[in-house]
Amino acid sequence: MRFPVTRLRRLRKSPITRNMVRETKLTRDDLIMPLFVRYGEGVKNEIPSMPGNYQLSVDLLVERCKELYAKGVQSVLLFGIPEHKDDHGHVACEHNGIVQQAVRAIKAEVPELYVIADICNCEYTTHGHCGTIIDGDVDNDSTLVTLAKQAVSMAEAGVDMVAPSDMMDGRVGVMRKALDENKFTHVPIMAYSAKYASAFYGPFRDAAESAPQFGDRSTYQMDPANSNEALREVELDIEEGADMVMVKPALSYLDIIRRLKDTFNMPIVAYNVSGEFSMVKAAAEKGWIDEKRMTLEILTSIKRAGADVIISYHTQDIIDEL
Ligand code: PBG
Repeated sequence: MRFPVTRLRRLRKSPITRNMVRETKLTRDDLIMPLFVRYGEGVKNEIPSMPGNYQLSVDLLVERCKELYAKGVQSVLLFGIPEHKDDHGHVACEHNGIVQQAVRAIKAEVPELYVIADICNCEYTTHGHCGTIIDGDVDNDSTLVTLAKQAVSMAEAGVDMVAPSDMMDGRVGVMRKALDENKFTHVPIMAYSAKYASAFYGPFRDAAESAPQFGDRSTYQMDPANSNEALREVELDIEEGADMVMVKPALSYLDIIRRLKDTFNMPIVAYNVSGEFSMVKAAAEKGWIDEKRMTLEILTSIKRAGADVIISYHTQDIIDEL
């Protein structure tokens, strides 16, 4: 039936009908808040490029987690800034590693909060790359060994989920095997499956002090020009035992999110990364945009594209609206 019989504006007239027919609804269940934990005590370091986000020492991180949980945030993703780094990222596997300490402290004080640990070496290596360097490049297979150890160590500390973000080949399988052998069959793996070599990670690398000291990450992260390759990455991660698969960044990759959703019967996670967050904050500071409306529109668009879960630094600001 065509105009004038059909008029799509009829259902847009009242907020009640608009709400009735809304196809995508963002809820608190959808969001994960990333947090940065730093060695020391009483430390709250501002991250200038990410307003409202801080590097927090364990004591203050626990306080922050209590506040977030009380506000309705159900899940956090932890990144660590250790006191010392080494060539291979061994510090990330230590019983008393910075994230391991944070996990234990959060679980002791806010046990209901769901805690996810990012598994990667870039914050823990002197050179800032995501693994062991051999002949000027990250060596895949020796890096798998440290990654598996890091995952098991996080599980021992009591983490609820691990999230490998390194983009080495085969890491999900190696990690699943190591977790299972150590009786952590219940710990899920959220795989950063389609992680692109992106300029949108800039502010994060300041926050996590993880910028590569030479070269870039294009020998392991994906080429932003590729879409079919994302399907191959995801297929392999599913075969290796991933419980959730991720697209990262989110906004320039909404087409990838949709393709994965249509292709695989898997929970899809999208990471609304630091650069995407900082652009909104910077424009809002200048008074150029309505931050709340824009944030809701961005997060809704990521969900509409097909994401079941969204990791976003906006979580702490927007949770009250949901
Ligand atoms: C790697 C990691 C990165 C991010 C999450 N995990 C950075 C990178 O690959 O260089 C980026 C997150 C963001 O930009 O918000 N450990």
